[in-house]
Amino acid sequence: SVVESVNTAGHLMIGGCDALDLVQEFQTPLVVYDIEQVRQQVRAFRQAFEEQQVNYVVSYASKAFATQAIYQVMNQEKAHIDVVSGGELYTAIQAGFPMAHVSFHGNNKSRSELELAVQEQVGVIILDNFDELDLLSSILERTEQKIAVMLRITPDITAHTHEYIQTGQADSKFGFDLPSGQAEAALKQILENPHLDFRGIHAHIGSQILAVTGFELLAHKLVELAAQWQQKFQCPIPVLNFGGGFGIRYTAEDHPLAPAKFISALVQTVKTDCQQQQLPLPEIWIEPGRSLVGPAGYNLYTVGSSKRVPGLKPYVTVDGGMGDNIRPALYQAEYTAVLAANPQAPAEETIRLAGRYCESGDILISELEFPRVHQGQIVALLATGAYGYAMASNYNRVPRPAVVFAEQGKAQVVVERESYADLNRLDRAYQNK
Ligand code: LLP
Repeated sequence: SVVESVNTAGHLMIGGCDALDLVQEFQTPLVVYDIEQVRQQVRAFRQAFEEQQVNYVVSYASKAFATQAIYQVMNQEKAHIDVVSGGELYTAIQAGFPMAHVSFHGNNKSRSELELAVQEQVGVIILDNFDELDLLSSILERTEQKIAVMLRITPDITAHTHEYIQTGQADSKFGFDLPSGQAEAALKQILENPHLDFRGIHAHIGSQILAVTGFELLAHKLVELAAQWQQKFQCPIPVLNFGGGFGIRYTAEDHPLAPAKFISALVQTVKTDCQQQQLPLPEIWIEPGRSLVGPAGYNLYTVGSSKRVPGLKPYVTVDGGMGDNIRPALYQAEYTAVLAANPQAPAEETIRLAGRYCESGDILISELEFPRVHQGQIVALLATGAYGYAMASNYNRVPRPAVVFAEQGKAQVVVERESYADLNRLDRAYQNK
């Protein structure tokens, strides 16, 4: 089972704060991040690269959790970030994040998003398709500006993960296709365009990957491609960007590798292949999202009603659910939960931990061995930090929770709880006389 830290009262501790104190102060549902844990994950990846003695960039895939405060933390930890929308980019600007350390991703960046990226001079735009290449070229035509680009290819590597979060297979909406020659045609266009500075090749194979195999295959593929392109076009390939996807532990059944294991396998493969192909060792970039913020996140809920019918697995309902964490409903994602007042309390029954939303599928955990709980007790879902709050909605017109950062015993709100007024801020009365 998952061991969580507890204080002398036996309560769950998050970032040196008693979870029950946090609930007293900030109410539920509440999203809490143990920020020291985020820092340690970034440092673990960076340390792994340092040990391999390569030039590298760890770029936080901020779609996993994009707020001004997390951008500040990432900058403090010398991580770059990737953004996938004007909204994420704007948030990074508001956070004072250095634009030179931003990569801009997406398979349908709009003209205005690209204009914002050019105007702010983001570090690199990751080109996904021909329409975007044309759009960006037309924006740059009227300027003196040069912008760095990487070319995203579809690697045709199938990661063993949920179908909805696979991205690397050949039939994918992301990136330039290789076998048809489209990726190469795109490279030619880039090299011929004086406004574009070709920085390298990007690929992403999927998410919540627990083994190194996919990354090794990808390393073989990208190095081979880089060697071919360098030969054919005489262009340097300064960067190989391997995307994200490093898996984390959600339940006791998950056995993710440590960052050092992923990184050493990846870098070793790149090094060996580069030597064979006589290719200068490129800078190696990765884009972890989930693994940097997932394990550090906790969703705290208050138990409300229960439904117990003889012969049926009990429903125990909390004051949150698919509005603040849609992953169980959307991907059948699994989580573990503990009782905040006593994470070590022995299990007494198997329950369904249900959400409060009007949808039968709103079950946070469909099979949870748990102590017998009552109205008013606090339940903590673990490892909710990635794609939880980031994918939150106002379904059922429920305000989104507050987000708190806890570190060294101090807790601070970094996103306020929404109010009913917030929910109505954009509503306008219908003027039909
Ligand atoms: N780089 C690119 C180009 C990506 O598309 C993604 C994730 C990442 C990096 C970061 O992957 P990570 O290290 O977080 O696995 N909402 C889904 C996950 C979608 C991932 C989309 N792309 C979920 O909740 O599982």
